[in-house]
Amino acid sequence: MSNSVDPRPFAIADRLAGVGRIVGVSGSKGGIGKSVVASTMALALADAGSRVGLFDLDFTSPSDHVVLGVERSFPDEQFGIDPHEAHGVQMMSIAFFAGEAAVPLRGAATTNALLELLAITRWGDLDVLILDMPPGLGDTSLDVINLLPRLEFLLVGNGSRVVIESVRRALSLLAELDVPLVGLLENIQRVADGAVASLAAEFDVAYLGPIPFDPGFEAALGDIRLLRETAVYRELARMLAPGLPATK
Ligand SMILES: Nc1ncnc2c1ncn2[C@@H]1O[C@H](COP(=O)(O)OP(=O)(O)O)[C@@H](O)[C@H]1O
Ligand SMILES: [Mg+2]
Repeated sequence: MSNSVDPRPFAIADRLAGVGRIVGVSGSKGGIGKSVVASTMALALADAGSRVGLFDLDFTSPSDHVVLGVERSFPDEQFGIDPHEAHGVQMMSIAFFAGEAAVPLRGAATTNALLELLAITRWGDLDVLILDMPPGLGDTSLDVINLLPRLEFLLVGNGSRVVIESVRRALSLLAELDVPLVGLLENIQRVADGAVASLAAEFDVAYLGPIPFDPGFEAALGDIRLLRETAVYRELARMLAPGLPATK
């Protein structure tokens, strides 16, 4: 990426010129609902009238198309590629290219895939582009932090001690890297123990509130009508009704 003859970082700035805010949904651990939050948040914001993009950056396990029930189809090309519009959300995912095949990327190849997709996707004018991040703050997260100076993060966590420890590490690293934070969202809350709220206070980050464990969520996956009736959608829509919170 430090290769000075690579034109893609310049192309990327151009491709994102019409995008208002860029928000990475992250939070260290896998399985805490980053993809669910990123996808449902995109739908709720689009339903409320915002122009929203959703870019699935978990190349190993892309999931946003599953949550929003989007058929894989090769994107249209036109001096770049157009995101796939689904339910008012502009979507891009490696799943649109790879189908069900595994995408065994590592190291430099991951960076290359990221640069390539960012350089060719025509996002157009958006109020917000949501990036669904892979677990951990590894290659892809560090790459987007370097590539996109305007990037903000929204972290997802829950009260489990293993999650708290790992979100604390993520908060420290993001503070060190000076990445602005939209806030810390508690997902799959089973017990209201205040652990996530305290962690947010410790780092002077907004606590965006709890989303409960929703036993009906699995059945709603991929079905937009049911998805809009889930507690996850309801809570996110309520949280985002005043607009996406400003960063601290
Ligand atoms: N609030 C919730 N209630 C019930 N199930 C949830 C909730 N949030 C996420 N899930 C489920 O948890 C699992 C992991 O979610 P996912 O978004 O893929 O996590 P991540 O992207 O962090 O790896 C999925 O099966 C998803 O449907
Ligand atoms: Mg995910």
